[in-house]
Amino acid sequence: MRILSGIQPTGRFHWGNYFGAIRQYIDLQNGQDSAFYFIANLHALTTIRDRELLARNTFDAALDLLALGLDPDRATLFVQSDVHAVSELCWILMTTTSMGLLERCHAYKDKKSKGLPADAGLFTYPVLMAADILLYDSNLVPVGEDQKQHVEVCRDIAGSFNSSFGEVFVIPEAYIVQDTAKVPGLDGGKMSKSYGNSIEVFENLKSQKKKIMGITTDSRPIELPKDPETDHLFHLYSLFASAEQTQSLAERYRRGGFGYGEVKKELVVLAESYFAEARKRREELAAKPEYVRNVLADGAKRATKKAAEVLDRVKKSCGIIINI
Ligand code: ADP
Ligand code: TRP
Repeated sequence: MRILSGIQPTGRFHWGNYFGAIRQYIDLQNGQDSAFYFIANLHALTTIRDRELLARNTFDAALDLLALGLDPDRATLFVQSDVHAVSELCWILMTTTSMGLLERCHAYKDKKSKGLPADAGLFTYPVLMAADILLYDSNLVPVGEDQKQHVEVCRDIAGSFNSSFGEVFVIPEAYIVQDTAKVPGLDGGKMSKSYGNSIEVFENLKSQKKKIMGITTDSRPIELPKDPETDHLFHLYSLFASAEQTQSLAERYRRGGFGYGEVKKELVVLAESYFAEARKRREELAAKPEYVRNVLADGAKRATKKAAEVLDRVKKSCGIIINI
């Protein structure tokens, strides 16, 4: 069983990235051969056009993942572009992918509907993502809800290739944990770095506190009961709290007679202690860039080995490698 996921180095990771994706990477890591995680720098090129920023973000993403618990002895961590075979497979897959399939994908569709110009990189983004997944015979892909469509597209692409050339690809499945599939942001919408409503995992504590205290809430009088199920502050609190703490807060909501300010203050404390150890580890790792570079180089070597095996199979299946 191979678990695989990728994350773009387009900025520092936020709570949505952590609870929606990274935590699952860590929970599922159970061997260098079975868990593959990579930093999707080729995908990030569709949005970042600053070489220093992309390089810095890529390195920071590795630091963050390692600090958060990704263990190089139990998983393979690498940078997407270090495995050259992915670009080759991407082209091969493009030849059997229909335009209609890509036209339905949300990133491209959203841009087009706003009348914004889209480049070919954005349009073919899901094909590169399919190559990422199929290149390693991946079975399970841990992601947040917003990536579900891309995994479906990958299944379609693999299916159409298989129907032309035989059973070449393993068909993967998305792994989505429902409770954390869509972490809300400060304003109650989906947390995303593009919406300016996110809290970064390693955000400076003062700014984190300010953001938490500014989470939007309704203007009900204190004494009235509130419904915890529909409240994004409650949702955020439950990500950090124990089951007992969450249950007790739900009872306070239903009873009424409390202010949202109290809950926010509790969330400040919970969030700080939740990531305290990771913050410490990150500082230690930042002082050892050589170690991080070695982890990535080792990871690239292992991933390249598996990729070569799959690419060879693909090329034989469609006549690129001449077997005469
Ligand atoms: P962003 O929306 O901030 O640009 P990305 O698209 O880079 O985030 O997402 C990286 C990973 O984190 C993906 O697996 C994605 O599904 C997950 N993710 C992003 N935002 C959230 C969220 N608010 N809730 C749950 N998962 C999320
Ligand atoms: N598109 C994903 C995102 O924005 C990142 C990604 C690239 C990915 N390739 C992947 C995720 C392969 C899972 C599997 O979050």
